[in-house]
Amino acid sequence: MSQNILVCGGAGYIGSHMVRLLRRSGHVVTVFDNFSQGHRAALPDDVSVIEGDLCDPSALVRAFAAGPFDAVYHFAALISVGESVTAPDLYYRNNVVGALNLLDAMRGAGCDRIVFSSTAAIFGNPETDLIDESHRRAPLNPYGWSKLMMEQILADHAHAFGVRSVSFRYFNAAGADPTGAIGEAHDPETHLIPNILLAAMGVRSGLEIFGDDYDTRDGTCVRDYIHVDDIASAHLAALGLMDAEPGAHAFNLGNGRGFTNLDVIDAARDVTGRDIPVRVGPRRPGDAAMLVADSTKARNRLDWTPEVPDILDIMKTAWTWHQAPAYGPFAVEHTAERSAK
Ligand code: UFG
Repeated sequence: MSQNILVCGGAGYIGSHMVRLLRRSGHVVTVFDNFSQGHRAALPDDVSVIEGDLCDPSALVRAFAAGPFDAVYHFAALISVGESVTAPDLYYRNNVVGALNLLDAMRGAGCDRIVFSSTAAIFGNPETDLIDESHRRAPLNPYGWSKLMMEQILADHAHAFGVRSVSFRYFNAAGADPTGAIGEAHDPETHLIPNILLAAMGVRSGLEIFGDDYDTRDGTCVRDYIHVDDIASAHLAALGLMDAEPGAHAFNLGNGRGFTNLDVIDAARDVTGRDIPVRVGPRRPGDAAMLVADSTKARNRLDWTPEVPDILDIMKTAWTWHQAPAYGPFAVEHTAERSAK
């Protein structure tokens, strides 16, 4: 059955892939975004857009006046681990105060369903190779804390106000829509795969690896990469779970396979066929050595199966996007590189 959905942060990386999937699935979408990181060009031309900030309650009143909404997807958050260490005030204001404003506005409008973007960063340095939902939480940075606080707030809102929620702890979101129409375009770009591909393009002069003295197979950090459309498909399944079961649910989303930073560079060399110069720099503050998901619960409870689990396939979709991004900070450089050929 078609639902009316408000997507906060719908112009961002994961949000824009979600908007497309929701529309392909027959739902009606309204996007709320402040465009601080999101891109208008990432949105379909005919989607309803309300420009506003979660820290501005009057903007949220405007957004909910466009309802009623059956559910809210909340992707609008600050996401850089390193920045959160130096600017925690920004992270708590946007990620906690902003999300509380959203919950207040939902309650005012009688909307009681929310799907929330959480993170593997709530676990800190794990005690087991695979991290399942029962693993101890011990964030290493304010970004992780801001998301863990929101998970607690959602649990308390379930109890006090009957809010139904699903929190997804993403491990490392990667890849792009297979058509190359939308993809990852952060400014500044801090993530590993885009930075490797920008180095492969020659847009950046090589890649700096942040630390090679971790207690891992080759000394570099280990991450679990999951395709952005597979994250979106789990979010879609969350609608059914919220209908069936009240309460605050949480799931870890990954492929259950760990790749060192050097593995990821090798995968990029295979896919691009290009030379990627690499230098080793110091560790980045707030980084965990290894984060790999046990997503058995999502597979079982949401009947969810990742469709692009292979790192090479994930990398291919990212490479398609990065060779000709339609928007974002590197769109111009790429255009210049193409026209120079
Ligand atoms: N890295 C480099 N060089 C770069 C960029 C990254 O060596 O230029 C390294 C990082 O130090 C880390 C790994 O590559 O070891 C992955 O870093 P990313 O920045 O791509 O991703 P993170 O693991 O830091 O963070 C991502 C999301 C967070 C989320 C986290 C959970 O951005 O929102 O995954 O795993 F919390």
